[in-house]
Amino acid sequence: MFNLQDYIRDVPDFPKPGVVYKDITPLLQDPEAAKKATEILLEKLNGLKIDKVVGIESRGFFFATLLAERLHAGFVPIRKPGKLPYETYRENYSLEYGEDVLEIHKDAIKQGEKVLIHDDVLATGGTAAAACRLVEKMGGEIVQCNFLMELAFLHGKDKLKPYQVVSLLTVE
Ligand code: PRP
Ligand code: MG
Repeated sequence: MFNLQDYIRDVPDFPKPGVVYKDITPLLQDPEAAKKATEILLEKLNGLKIDKVVGIESRGFFFATLLAERLHAGFVPIRKPGKLPYETYRENYSLEYGEDVLEIHKDAIKQGEKVLIHDDVLATGGTAAAACRLVEKMGGEIVQCNFLMELAFLHGKDKLKPYQVVSLLTVE
């Protein structure tokens, strides 16, 4: 039986002491496992129509593109500042210490489009919540936010209260 946990490697003290990094590269290396994870995420959409899948730089890009292809939807990158070449909208969000910015191309989402937000990990929720704000400011309708895994002890879901949140694996 497929167990996502078998394909996620815990790396202690990365990128800094005390943090356990959830490494998804074993999942990406295994085509059958990556396909299975994609299929389970698709099932949890329950056939809802999606126009655009928004993937959050950088680890969100992998499965966002796989999902977009399967959904016959467009893929839209949300990136860290200064990376997107065209005109952008920007949104600030809080980190544990300080602030960061996310950007999206101004022509990426049209009014009324149905959007799936994807990232690999939901931790504090700051990143995903900023992505949701960007999409909604552009008139997109967020159908669901999905993640490979959720670090439940950081209560990221609280920042995504208005939305349907799906994660394949919950780390307590
Ligand atoms: C990680 C992870 C999520 C985000 C979750 O990305 O991939 O995007 O943190 O954190 P939050 O819920 O507390 O906001 P990171 O910023 O490390 O960058 P990367 O994806 O480029 O590795
Ligand atoms: Mg990330």
